[in-house]
Parts: sequence; C-alpha cells; structure tokens
Amino acid sequence: MIGLVTGGYGFIGNQLAELLSNEFSEVRILDNLSNVARVVRLPNVHLIEGDIRDAETTFKALRYVYIVSHTAARLCCCKHARAICRFGKQYIRDSLGV
Ligand SMILES: NC(=O)c1ccc[n+]([C@@H]2O[C@H](COP(=O)([O-])OP(=O)(O)OC[C@H]3O[C@@H](n4cnc5c(N)ncnc54)[C@H](O)[C@@H]3O)[C@@H](O)[C@H]2O)c1
Repeated sequence: MIGLVTGGYGFIGNQLAELLSNEFSEVRILDNLSNVARVVRLPNVHLIEGDIRDAETTFKALRYVYIVSHTAARLCCCKHARAICRFGKQYIRDSLGV
C-alpha cells in the first residue's frame, strides 16, 4: 500500500512519514521545500518536490494512494498558533497568580 504525506519534510510531517514507512510499502512526500524541518531518508520514502496548489503534481502524487496525511501548511500560521499558545499560558499564569 502507498501512503502520501503532504508537507512530509515539515515538523509534523517528517515524523508521520517515518511512522507510515513501517506500515506501507511506499510513502510519498509531497513538499515544496519551503520550510524543511528534516529530510526523511528511508528506502521506501520518496520525495515529490512540488506544491499542493499545483493540481497536476498533486494528482500525480495521489495515484494509487491508500491514505493521505495532509500537513502541508504555511509556517506563518504555525508561528501565530505558537504565539497564541504562549500568550494563553502567560494569561492563565497571571490569572492564577502563579
Ligand atoms: N507544529 C505544531 O505544534 C502543530 C500542532 C498542531 C497542528 N499543527 C498543524 O500541522 C500542520 C503542519 O505543521 P508543522 O509544524 O509540521 O509545519 P511545518 O512548517 O514544519 O511543515 C509544513 C511543511 O509543508 C511544506 N509546505 C508548505 N507549503 C506547502 C505547499 N504549498 N505545498 C507543499 N508543501 C508545502 C513545508 O515545506 C514544510 O515541509 C499545520 O497545519 C499546523 O497548523 C501543528
């Protein structure tokens, strides 16, 4: 079976790709390399360099795929999410006086 991880070189995607590689005969990574956290080097993990917004590339990556883990995302969203988390934790600490 073939698995596809979009954003598979990212912070979450690289770990998912590695996990899936234990269960699937082939894991495809579709990544535009805009924010690589770690390159997964395993014999059954293959990179398709491209953008998920490109329909032709995405259809090619999806061929015969059984499962898709979609983690491709723009970093700025994650930066905002982390900032919100930091703010939330500080707010709770301040509220509790700890
Ligand atoms: N990191 C966290 O703690 C966390 C927690 C919960 C949810 N998430 C969500 O998981 C997703 C991934 O987060 P992450 O921290 O792994 O981000 P990341 O930036 O580390 O990884 C994103 C990957 O997607 C690739 N990418 C970006 N745009 C692309 C595009 N148009 N086409 C193909 N590839 C593209 C990047 O090169 C990168 O490898 C996000 O939606 C994020 O909101 C992250």
